[in-house]
Amino acid sequence: MRITPAVEDLAEHEADTLVIGIPDDPAWPGPSRRVDALSRGLLGRLFESRDVAGKVGETTLVLEPPGLRAKALLTVGLGKQAALDRGVANRAAGSAARQLARRRRGRVAFALGDDWPEDRVAGAICGAMVGCAGQDLFRAEKKSFSFDEMTWFGATAEACEQGRILGESVNLARRLVNQPPNVLFPDSFADIARTVCAEHGIECEVWDDRRLEQERCGAMLAVGRASTQPPRMLILRYRGAPGEMPPVALVGKGVTFDSGGLSIKPSDGMKTMKGDMAGAAAVLAAMCAAARRGFPAHLIGVLGLVENVISGSAYKLGDVLTARSGTTIEVLNTDAEGRLVLADALNVAVELGAAAIIDVATLTGACSVALGQHVVGVMTNHQPWCDRVLSAARECGEPAWQLPMFPDYGELIRSQVADIKNVGDGRYAGTITGAKFLEEFVGGRPWVHADIAGSAFSESARAWIDGGGTGVFVRTLIEVVRNWSGAAPA
Ligand code: BES
Ligand code: MN
Ligand code: ZN
Repeated sequence: MRITPAVEDLAEHEADTLVIGIPDDPAWPGPSRRVDALSRGLLGRLFESRDVAGKVGETTLVLEPPGLRAKALLTVGLGKQAALDRGVANRAAGSAARQLARRRRGRVAFALGDDWPEDRVAGAICGAMVGCAGQDLFRAEKKSFSFDEMTWFGATAEACEQGRILGESVNLARRLVNQPPNVLFPDSFADIARTVCAEHGIECEVWDDRRLEQERCGAMLAVGRASTQPPRMLILRYRGAPGEMPPVALVGKGVTFDSGGLSIKPSDGMKTMKGDMAGAAAVLAAMCAAARRGFPAHLIGVLGLVENVISGSAYKLGDVLTARSGTTIEVLNTDAEGRLVLADALNVAVELGAAAIIDVATLTGACSVALGQHVVGVMTNHQPWCDRVLSAARECGEPAWQLPMFPDYGELIRSQVADIKNVGDGRYAGTITGAKFLEEFVGGRPWVHADIAGSAFSESARAWIDGGGTGVFVRTLIEVVRNWSGAAPA
């Protein structure tokens, strides 16, 4: 999609549709007042008849608006002026775009606000791109159509470019999550990663199953053993800093399908398990964005790609595995496979010299029990690093909430026969015991674990995004690595 700053005046601009932001504020700061004047009070009348209110994301379509050269006008609410931030801008633009994307459109113009900071404009552009991309990858009759072109009032060329990169990155992650598991499996994921990395100057090393044996990745290999699709570990390297700088590592869970293994999931719980690689997708997408924007930082991405299925060679309950770090693990539930994959992936990140780590994983169903379907659970061994991730998430408008890591929780994963076991006792604090398990493999480095199990896949559409993969945490990861300076904050 072509995205450019609008050059003509609002009155002169020829577009199929002009999207106009409506603040929930009688003074109408921003372009809506201008449009009201040009259209001889049209917006005021819509306000009076309550067809337009200014509630975030609420839209009204007006055909052939008077006084404008656009063929149609779409109003979109921006909410209270004081609460208007990047997250609101993202959702409002997304809602407008999703509404318009139901049919083909050539040029869509957006005039949401005057004097918006560049990051907010970029967030809105990203939202619009996400809003018009749907999950109907394999439908002959599409439900959503990307616009041929977007023009943005009040945007710099730089903001347009940043927004485009953000939008394409989030949509890349979403598209990967939406790929069915017969199409996307470890090796085909690796192929896609190789291609996109080559496009953007990222080094992409792929460890095949033989190499994984040599590297003693015993935890990850056990998970993948039952599948005819062999596992892969991807190591991505982006070097953007001018000199030497310790890297930050992004680590992603890439289970391309999770049947649960012998601890098999019920059919209903398995339906969305093509999305169990959303963490790996988010890491790949964020690395691409960082490289395209040329962030002056060194980044490492480690993606553990594996399929968790069943055959005669499936790993079993009671198996004791030796992870790459040497730690022994008693398997008491083969559906707690993500932590086994990450155990080896985190160990690789540590060995590669990561000065700080963020892992992203659809790790526990318990995370949605605790926080609901739209909030990322965050856990850490290093509060300042976690604060940085949380503030990046807040800036981007991605809801995230920290869960505690009291030492006593660590007792729940002690095993009678091995160093640790892969599940806690019973169902209590399932998200935290998952994190406590991972903590064993981060070598004491500043580390944040983001559990995106609730938020990575949405069974139904929301106003600003279709159902399916959400691309959650891609924007947050980009925001964090943008500020990476070689060390976690003290
Ligand atoms: N991939 C699942 C977690 C998940 C559940 C993600 C629902 C998205 C939606 C993970 O591998 C898993 O099965 N976790 C188990 C852990 C348990 C056995 C300790 C779970 O949540 O039940
Ligand atoms: Mn599982
Ligand atoms: Zn899983």
